[in-house]
Amino acid sequence: MTGRSDESGEPTATATDRGESVRRLDDWDGAFLRSLAAEYETPLYVLDLDRVRANYRRLASAFPDADICYAAKANALGDVLETLLAEGATIECASAGEVQRALAAGASGDRIHYTAVNPPERDLEYVLDVWADEPHLTITAGARDTVERLADAGYDGRLALRVNPGVGAGHHDAVRTGGDATFGIPADRLVGVAEFAVESGLDLVGLHAHVGSGVLDDEQVAAHREFVGRVAALAEDILSAVGPVDFVDVGGGFGVPYRESESPLDLDAVAGATRDALVGVDADLVVEPGRYLVADAGLLLTRANTVKETPGTRVVGVDAGMTSLLRPALYDAYHDIRPVAPGAADRDRVAQTITGPICESADVFCTDRPLPRIDREEPLAVGNAGAYGYEMASTYNSRPRPASVVVDAGSVSLARRRESIDDLTRLERNRADAGTERAPGAAERAADGTSPATDGGSSTEVDE
Ligand code: LLP
Repeated sequence: MTGRSDESGEPTATATDRGESVRRLDDWDGAFLRSLAAEYETPLYVLDLDRVRANYRRLASAFPDADICYAAKANALGDVLETLLAEGATIECASAGEVQRALAAGASGDRIHYTAVNPPERDLEYVLDVWADEPHLTITAGARDTVERLADAGYDGRLALRVNPGVGAGHHDAVRTGGDATFGIPADRLVGVAEFAVESGLDLVGLHAHVGSGVLDDEQVAAHREFVGRVAALAEDILSAVGPVDFVDVGGGFGVPYRESESPLDLDAVAGATRDALVGVDADLVVEPGRYLVADAGLLLTRANTVKETPGTRVVGVDAGMTSLLRPALYDAYHDIRPVAPGAADRDRVAQTITGPICESADVFCTDRPLPRIDREEPLAVGNAGAYGYEMASTYNSRPRPASVVVDAGSVSLARRRESIDDLTRLERNRADAGTERAPGAAERAADGTSPATDGGSSTEVDE
């Protein structure tokens, strides 16, 4: 689970020296989680910034010469971006919104890579506006068309080309990006687009590719090895056609174990394969981890509302659902779930189905999973929710998104208040203060059981 042994049986300088390479749900302190659920109420995202730092340092020590470019889409909370910027990361941004959040967290342009995936005009305009003040930012284009749009808009700044290397890997079909025609320039067109970019006056500084997300087991690591091999060959093609580039960015995809039975990623194997593949390529290495840095730094606290015995299964309804954490509904993703009451682990285990409060059959966190018998009103923790949790949350069924707290050097603070019903309606014509003519906060209490006094923000406040 942590360090491995060499032939002498002594632990080698691997994960042990870089901190625990995996954090399971059981490693969180139950009393601490109960106190958070009581104080901040549920559903509640909890993110441990010390763990984010430890994950960053472990990855950085496996890739000592690489620039680590954090994929903000995994968790774009300002505290996370600030923490990783302070560690030395650059930030990979998938939209104008993420660029704006990176800037707000203190990133200078040279620490921003904007990956333009089918970029809406509004995004390009915003990023070009930022570029006027921050000339060292990098734009990654995945289509000749995007290069053309940039050139037409007068962009002659730093450009990376994203290539589709034709091989993907990941935890689900929906995230095996590397082989998906949607993403990147087809490999056989890459040199032509590179020549076009240079002729158009853009400063071609990098080559980019991303294999997919959730590379973990040996088969996926092997696919990743093939992927970096292809990227290296494509980098050579670019070098001989248009000259050297500053960097080769091999994307993210570093997986974490969601199941107890899964082992952590063999980071040294992935780093070694990447180094070997790129050894002859005279360019800096960039990696773009998202999940690896934040997944096990976070969890979601929820509470059982309803317990129902049915002929087939015991159904436990909780106050978080697919609107708080979409991954189980979207990818059939596994997340560990535990009641956090004292002694809960010693209770009888029974098959339980955990559902959310959304009117959708897909609103299920797990089906018939053997878990300690859960009581109504007790708090539960859902593990590995730090990546692609809050970021993929929605307000479907008019369900406000959870609050988020961060833990930093042992102290807890509210990083983002709970959304309120008024937040949901304030963009509607003539609805800016919906709910406020009635008892302030009543709607929120009715809807999600929170109390505005403890969720860190007035339910009736309106920013605009
Ligand atoms: N770089 C690029 C260009 C990406 O598109 C992504 C993720 C990453 C880096 C970071 O990948 P990571 O290291 O986190 O695997 N919502 C899905 C994951 C989608 C990932 C999309 N792109 C999930 O919850 O599993």
